[in-house]
Amino acid sequence: MILKGKKGIIFGALDDQSIAWKIAEHCVAEGAEIVLTNAPVAFRMRGDTSITTLAEKLNCEAIPADATRLDDLENLVEKSVEKLGKIDFVLHSIGMSINIRKNKPYTESNHDYMQKSFDISSISFHKLMQTLWKMDAMNDWGSVVALTYIGAQRIFPHYGEMAEAKALLESFARSFGYHFGEKKKIRVNTISQSPTVTTAGSGIEGFDDFWNHADKMSPLGNASADDCAKYCMTLFSDYTKYVTMQNLFHDGGFSSMGMNPKAV
Ligand SMILES: NC(=O)c1ccc[n+]([C@@H]2O[C@H](COP(=O)([O-])OP(=O)(O)OC[C@H]3O[C@@H](n4cnc5c(N)ncnc54)[C@H](O)[C@@H]3O)[C@@H](O)[C@H]2O)c1
Repeated sequence: MILKGKKGIIFGALDDQSIAWKIAEHCVAEGAEIVLTNAPVAFRMRGDTSITTLAEKLNCEAIPADATRLDDLENLVEKSVEKLGKIDFVLHSIGMSINIRKNKPYTESNHDYMQKSFDISSISFHKLMQTLWKMDAMNDWGSVVALTYIGAQRIFPHYGEMAEAKALLESFARSFGYHFGEKKKIRVNTISQSPTVTTAGSGIEGFDDFWNHADKMSPLGNASADDCAKYCMTLFSDYTKYVTMQNLFHDGGFSSMGMNPKAV
């Protein structure tokens, strides 16, 4: 049980395909106590694959919080600390592009939508870390992880403004990682995950081709959400105490490939 005694907050379990759903399940199976959270709208969903069902299954609390709102984040952190004590790990698994949702081509992006996308997908990470910092809510040697995609470094035409959103997210991890490291030995990293079939993933145009191409290019094939969860747990555990301010590829080798005859 590599997370025995650890307390965590997990953002982003929308349904049973969400990467955060798998991470929550694995963390609890490995001994962690967690609080689940998501945007208030996610709490309107009912049924076997809703966040409230997951909370029942994992015997934990689920607290709504819009990650773009500081008052929601403060309430979440306060209640989580009341329930669990100080926090050892936090997962940010949040992403949304309004321009993609509205089918706006990249070259015709609406900039109000773009700002909203950055607020949800990236600035929320800064808001979250700033809230944890101000409330001194984390234990020394804690770990903060956000999920990202290689679209931050390379062009995937249908990934749109999420490219910039992920670049910003990864930069926040490095910058806050410095401050958290100096103050509390807390590490901050991003995991750059393979394309994964989820609500957010499948919202990208041509997602199936995208998934197949990455699968063929990667010597190990695409990494699943379950395997992402296992990797993520190592970053929450005490086995990675000196890994910080890194963007870590969990992609079956895709990021090191130039060409693979299988993909031609
Ligand atoms: N699916 C992929 O191919 C893939 C690949 C690499 C990285 N990622 C990243 O993984 C993370 C999780 O995505 P996923 O693929 O599991 O999809 P998902 O749709 O299951 O998760 C996205 C989550 O963001 C939440 N969210 C949206 N707006 C929010 C807000 N204002 N406040 C709080 N939560 C909000 C949604 O409710 C949802 O739970 C995202 O950062 C995504 O970019 C996904």
